[in-house]
Amino acid sequence: MNIANDKISVGGIPVADLAQRFGTPLYVYDEAKIRENYRRVYQTFTKYYPDFEMFYAVKCCNNPAIVNIMRQEGAGADCASVNEILLAKSVGLTGEKVMFSGNFLSDDDIRQGLESGVIFNLDDISILPRLLKFGTPEMISFRVNPGYGKSNVGEYVTNAGPNAKFGLHPSQVTEAYRQAKAAGIKRFGAHMMTGSCITDADYFPFVTGLLMDIIGQTGKELGIDFEFIDLGGGLGIPYQVGEEGLDLERAAMKTAEMFRTKSAEYGLKPPQLKMEPARYFVGNAGYLIGTVHSIKESYKKIIGTDIGMNVLCRPAMYGSYHHIYVDGKESHDRAALGLCGQLCENTDFWVKDRQLPADIQEGDLVVVENAGAYGFGMSYQYNGRLRAAEVLVHDGQADLIRARETFEDMVRHTTVPAHLKG
Ligand code: LLP
Repeated sequence: MNIANDKISVGGIPVADLAQRFGTPLYVYDEAKIRENYRRVYQTFTKYYPDFEMFYAVKCCNNPAIVNIMRQEGAGADCASVNEILLAKSVGLTGEKVMFSGNFLSDDDIRQGLESGVIFNLDDISILPRLLKFGTPEMISFRVNPGYGKSNVGEYVTNAGPNAKFGLHPSQVTEAYRQAKAAGIKRFGAHMMTGSCITDADYFPFVTGLLMDIIGQTGKELGIDFEFIDLGGGLGIPYQVGEEGLDLERAAMKTAEMFRTKSAEYGLKPPQLKMEPARYFVGNAGYLIGTVHSIKESYKKIIGTDIGMNVLCRPAMYGSYHHIYVDGKESHDRAALGLCGQLCENTDFWVKDRQLPADIQEGDLVVVENAGAYGFGMSYQYNGRLRAAEVLVHDGQADLIRARETFEDMVRHTTVPAHLKG
C-alpha cells in the first residue's frame, strides 16, 4: 500500500479506481507482496535447515488464485476439510503436497480423506481405528498437543494446551504410533499447531523443543523414524501501528537449532522440517476497501460503512485491531470517532473512539490494513448483506478473482415446500 498526496494505492493502483471498477466492499490482494512474504520465510528457514517444506493453510484465504500463487512458489496445501482438499486438487496440489489436518472428523470425511491419497494428519488416537476400517494408508501423522500454546489474538487462537480442542495428549502419542505401526503403516510424520499470530521469535524454538521431546521419546521407544515433523503455522504479523514484527531470522535460526539438537538427542534420522504458515503470507498483502455510506451524530458520531463484521469479523469476534485509512484524508485533522457496518447487531459497531480524519464524509473510501488473512474466508451473509468481491493486483493490473455475491447466491439451495406456496 502506498499513500501519496493522501491518495491510497495498492500495487500501484489507486483504491478509488478499484472501488469504482469493482464496487465495495472489496478485498484486494497484492500478488507481489504475497510472493515476497513467502520467499522471505522460505529463504530464511532453508538457510538454517535446508530440508524444509511449507504447506499453505488454505483456510486463511481460500481463493484458488491465492492457492495457485502458493503452488507456484512451491508450497503444498494444509487442508481442514474434504472441500479444501478438493480445492487444493483443483489447482494441481495432490498426494504428499497436501496435508489433511481436520478435527472431529465424520466417517465420510475419513473415507474421502483416505481416498484422496493426501497425507493424513490425525487429530486424535480414536480416529485411527475408524480410518483403518476404510483402508491402510502408507503414511500417517498425528497432531500432538504439546501442552502449551500462545497467540497474539488471545485465548481465541491458542490452539494447544489444556484448554484447546486440538491434538493428542502427550501421554497418548506413543500408543497412537504403536497402533499405527501394528496396523502395517510404514511411514510416519508428526505435527503440531499450537497458536496463531505469534510475534515472539523465541516461542517457536520453545514449542519445537516440547514437541521433539514427545516425538523423540516415541521414536526411540518404537524404533520408528519420522520422515517429517510439521511445526504448524503461527508466524505472526503486527496489526497495531508501530508494533514490532516477528524476528524471522531469530525464529528460524533458533527453531532449526532446537530441531537439530533434539533429533540428535533422540537418535532420530534427521526428519524433514515442515511448516504451515498462512497469515504471514497473505495477512499484510490483503486490504479491505469500503465506502462510508451514512454518518450519524447521536450519543456519539458514528461512521456507517459497508465493511461490517459480516465482511471482516475479526474485530467483533476476537477484539482484534485493524488499522483503517481514509482515502484522500490521511493528513487531515483527527477526531475520536466510531465506525460500524450495516448489520442489526451492536457488535457490528467494531471501531470505537478511533482517531480518524475529522472531516470524513459520506462517499469516502476506507481502507482496512492487514485484511488478507482470515478476512474473506470468515465472512458471511447475515442480514442479506452478501459476500464481497475479491481482486488480485499484479504488474499494475487488477483481476477479479471472486465476483460479488448476488441475491441468487443467497437463496441458492433453499427450497420452499409446496404446502407453503399459495
Ligand atoms: N495449520 C493449521 C492446522 C491451522 O489450523 C492453521 C490455522 C494454520 C496452519 C495457519 O496458521 P497461521 O500461520 O495463519 O497462524 N481466525 C483466526 C486464526 C485461526 C487460525 C486457525 N488455524 C484469526 O483471524 O486470527
